[in-house]
Amino acid sequence: MKININGKECLANDGDYVLQVARANDIFIPAICYLNDCSPTLACRMCMVEIDGKRSYACNTKVKDGMQVLSNTKELWDERNAIMQTYCINHPLQCGVCDKSGECELQNFTHKAQVDTQNHWIKEIDRRHQDWGALQYDPSLCIVCERCITVCKDKIGDSELKTIARGGDAPDKDFKDTMSKDAYAVWTKFQKSLIAPQNGTTLDCQECAECVSVCPTGAIINKNFQYRSNAWELTRIPASNPHSSDCELMYYDVKQKSIKDNTKMVYRVSNDFHFTTLNKAARFAYDIASDCKGKDEVEFNRLVSLFKDNKIKNVKFNSYITNEEAYILELLRQKYGFNLVNNEALCFQDFLKTFCAHSGSFYNASSDDVKKSDFIVIAGSFLRHDNPTLSYKVNNAIVMNKGAGLYFHPIKDTKFSKIAKNFVSVNCDYGKEAQVLEFILQYFAKDLPQDLAYIKDAFYEEQIEVEVKSKDAEGNEIKEKKQETIKKSSLAKELGFDEDKLKDLLLKKANFTLIIGNDYFYHENAKYLAYLLANIQKLTDFKVMLIPPRTNTLGVSLLCKLSKASDGFTLGYNERGDFSFSNDEHNNLASSNLLEQEGTFVNYDKRLVPTNAALKFKGYYLNDLANALGLDALYTIEYTEQLPKDKGFLNIAFDDLTNHYDNAGNNHRGYLIDTCEFVKNLKQDNQIPQNIKSTCECKKDDIVILANPIGNLSKYTNKSSFFNECASLYASKDYLAKHNLKENSMVKIYDDKDEIIIKVVLDKNIENGAYLPTFDDKINPYKFFKTRRYYALNIKEISYE
Ligand code: SF4
Ligand code: SF4
Ligand code: FES
Repeated sequence: MKININGKECLANDGDYVLQVARANDIFIPAICYLNDCSPTLACRMCMVEIDGKRSYACNTKVKDGMQVLSNTKELWDERNAIMQTYCINHPLQCGVCDKSGECELQNFTHKAQVDTQNHWIKEIDRRHQDWGALQYDPSLCIVCERCITVCKDKIGDSELKTIARGGDAPDKDFKDTMSKDAYAVWTKFQKSLIAPQNGTTLDCQECAECVSVCPTGAIINKNFQYRSNAWELTRIPASNPHSSDCELMYYDVKQKSIKDNTKMVYRVSNDFHFTTLNKAARFAYDIASDCKGKDEVEFNRLVSLFKDNKIKNVKFNSYITNEEAYILELLRQKYGFNLVNNEALCFQDFLKTFCAHSGSFYNASSDDVKKSDFIVIAGSFLRHDNPTLSYKVNNAIVMNKGAGLYFHPIKDTKFSKIAKNFVSVNCDYGKEAQVLEFILQYFAKDLPQDLAYIKDAFYEEQIEVEVKSKDAEGNEIKEKKQETIKKSSLAKELGFDEDKLKDLLLKKANFTLIIGNDYFYHENAKYLAYLLANIQKLTDFKVMLIPPRTNTLGVSLLCKLSKASDGFTLGYNERGDFSFSNDEHNNLASSNLLEQEGTFVNYDKRLVPTNAALKFKGYYLNDLANALGLDALYTIEYTEQLPKDKGFLNIAFDDLTNHYDNAGNNHRGYLIDTCEFVKNLKQDNQIPQNIKSTCECKKDDIVILANPIGNLSKYTNKSSFFNECASLYASKDYLAKHNLKENSMVKIYDDKDEIIIKVVLDKNIENGAYLPTFDDKINPYKFFKTRRYYALNIKEISYE
């Protein structure tokens, strides 16, 4: 359809708001409280427009064909001027030291509405700074636009903020006659409320700081940025989140350390909150630059000789690297014949290959599809812990699309399961991974191939009592109770789930997405699970999304021929080895960190995205090593253009890659991988994987899973001073009770070969289990978790008496 805004014809889609259409067409309509993909709150009324002669609000008026919209009349601007005046009443004049100054929307709109006088006044009340933990709230700067509440509820899913009574006077009634209705209403609301965490004093949330990002003023601020820099002194360097596979667009805000020391430092990470949301790791784990003082020639030459003398049998690395680095490693592998070892990526790669071979295509959902879904199933992922950014999209879909869903996991995430009553957590047992997918096939697939026919027969009969109406000889209605036999899914029963509920959840649902995570990739039955999943993509209406476990697992899986380690000398690249070329503290030679490295990642949406270096690295790059071994590139990013076409990459130079969203929210970040090319070039594998009956024999109560606390995503994240935590065993209240453990006590967790001594702490947001993290270099949890993500571990409290 077409609408007309200020004389310009604009194309619009059914369901669009006028404001969205204006923005997509580069027409400026002032708006403070509205946030993309969130429910309009009508708090600010700045977006007032005339539609076909009537006053409306652009942020909550849906388009109609032929609509005539005016947003720039003198009357409208006079009223906006009055609203901005009310926002400025008793606003402290502290712009000189306010962290938001220079990028403050209160400043911008006051200027834009040409406020040069104040016609209103009211008695000020005592409003003190509040310490909410990682964040600070200054109520005197708050204009109660409610963006913080909205983003937390509609996007993040924590619903951690609320309005509370301000205790201020109501505006004098006399003003009602002298000012516009909208300005008076905004002022009245403003006088009534303030913002507070749900418990009134401190945040009990995942501390993503998205509320800080959306705040138009300096009312909510990160404590670690407060009073450290003016916004205009910072240089914004576009990058991609290096901590998780969303690889979301973000900016390193950089300036020199001090007047005397011109070394650059990252002061904060910011984002374009209209189109992106960052997780806690992206937001806070930015001071992770390597402490490399310069080039260590002796060790570098030793490393070169190790290659030239063919001493290196394995190169072990992780997926916190760029595509260009992964490609260099692959080229070196081809030249020197060592094993490229990355177990996490190898599991994912094997899973992906089996999936693609049997579905004939790549996984077909993106995070955008998740956002548009109204029915979402999650399996094999402890989602908020594994990939918080994707959990925001799930929350956004369920809340905004009135969606429903099922979340299968043995550990219950109580906060996440509360996002809506139609988002049902199913606490299925460990070992039931295949049954989840079989049930989806049973319930949703139209036809099943011969080898999966047994799924069709997985039913049992149940006797139920039904009421039957009939008439007696005189024609009177009589009701009788009768026994009836019905067929029910034995798969659903095994999962501990009532399939009858599903009918209600599915009412009026049309867009289905299935999200699959780590538990399925690290599984002794992974091939069969991938095969089932391939059939789901082929035979049901579900789109399928795999979550690559680490930042660039997908890029590494596309680019590298991976294998298991063999005996012999191991070079660790960003990992420990017999020679460690890494950025951990025990290295032989320092390697660059992702914020000191230009290059690209492939994110979970199968999109290649660029990232720039925030800081200079003084040591040797992997590219220097490659050059010393006969490859030839002045800079690492010369490889961007050479990334192989048969793996789906396009030959585009790094400097030609874009990295932004436009005003309509269209994604202009890098490019989409040509997944057809990747699938086409896969070696054909027609062998149907066998179901290794994956029953979990171990004692349920003893099971621990491998997972990190929300936000501290990896050892790479944990290097930052914001995290820098020691590992604990994180346990639910019921787990502590079952094992007779006290919170914060020291415990031994062990099997018949190994043990770890660790503190056990309570995670009050989970039920039914415990998890052991991977972020702390000082413990090695992988010694227990060899073929699965979960394992039964004995646990015993240690007494030091
Ligand atoms: S704290 Fe900021 S975002 Fe929240 S209501 Fe106040 S001004 Fe708006
Ligand atoms: S930090 Fe994140 S989770 Fe916490 S209140 Fe702010 S938006 Fe919500
Ligand atoms: S943006 Fe529309 S009311 Fe605030």
